[in-house]
Amino acid sequence: MSDYPFNRIKATTRYCGVLGYPIKHSGSPAMHNPTMKAMGLDWNYLAFEVHPDHLREVLVGAGRMGFVGMNLTVPHKLLAYEMVDHLDASAERWGAVNTIRFEGRTESEDWEPIWKLESTRVTETRMSGYNTDADAVVRAISEELSMDLAGKSVVLLGAGGAGKVAALKLADEKVGNLFLVNRTESKCHEIKEVIDRELESTATHIGYPDSGQPVDLVINATSLGLKNDDPLPFDPEKLDLRKARHAYDMIYQPATTRFLGLASEAGCHVANGLGMLLYQGVKALEIWSEADVPVDVMKSALHQHIYQSEK
Ligand code: ATR
Repeated sequence: MSDYPFNRIKATTRYCGVLGYPIKHSGSPAMHNPTMKAMGLDWNYLAFEVHPDHLREVLVGAGRMGFVGMNLTVPHKLLAYEMVDHLDASAERWGAVNTIRFEGRTESEDWEPIWKLESTRVTETRMSGYNTDADAVVRAISEELSMDLAGKSVVLLGAGGAGKVAALKLADEKVGNLFLVNRTESKCHEIKEVIDRELESTATHIGYPDSGQPVDLVINATSLGLKNDDPLPFDPEKLDLRKARHAYDMIYQPATTRFLGLASEAGCHVANGLGMLLYQGVKALEIWSEADVPVDVMKSALHQHIYQSEK
């Protein structure tokens, strides 16, 4: 990795990247560049601060410049959903696009990643939208906590953007009992309505489980914990972490929030949200490259970047 952050640039080098507003804290270039290099891809991953008003022209331009693909972060995921030419089932399911693949078609063939095609043979191009965030939540939780979610009891703290996707994805994984807790309770009711209608194998409850009832997993999907002086994301009078087996915090900086610290002390098996960032990136690179992605390389690059230590 001696020439990190940039892989060697040649006239044949291809590009991908992330668009956000703001973007300067993104860890994506740091995790993608060494991984693409390890895969032998002559690609570079860049980050651009793009105002939402300019998103469409930037995407069209990137396609014209032969970019492999683009990741989208806040606030572009819903806008991109409206802009792409084609929605993969993952994007359709979650109503948001965080990964775009630029695709082309030759006379007789199906749509393929544009980078694989000889440009003179391409007759048509399109932007295809995917969502790799939702799968990443479940992959991160199940791999990092070594747990199978089906049939389990889960308390989900937070029902904002991230909380909603997590709730629906957990129900998709057939969690047995899902307890939704949020400052604004109406958002829990909206989520429960969708799950009751579409994902019947999960029993959804608003509020905490009865006191003393054991739970398999408590997830923090609120933003509480990002700052040192934030209050806890749960009410300790109503939830006893000693009754929980696992705890997951979507926050990864700080690495150990007060919630995760208390959960550890209470004997829970814990993990923070870095895995969500990792696995959405792994999946995006799989979609672009159509090859296996070395997860360990990406994981240690990300750890190095965020915590200045490899793992
Ligand atoms: P994200 O896309 O990261 O989920 P979001 O949609 O703004 O961001 O959601 C933030 C979550 O943190 C919400 O669940 C929010 O609760 P509300 O829905 O009631 O706003 C929660 N949250 C943020 N600040 C909070 C606070 N001070 N107390 C309790 N919950 C808070």
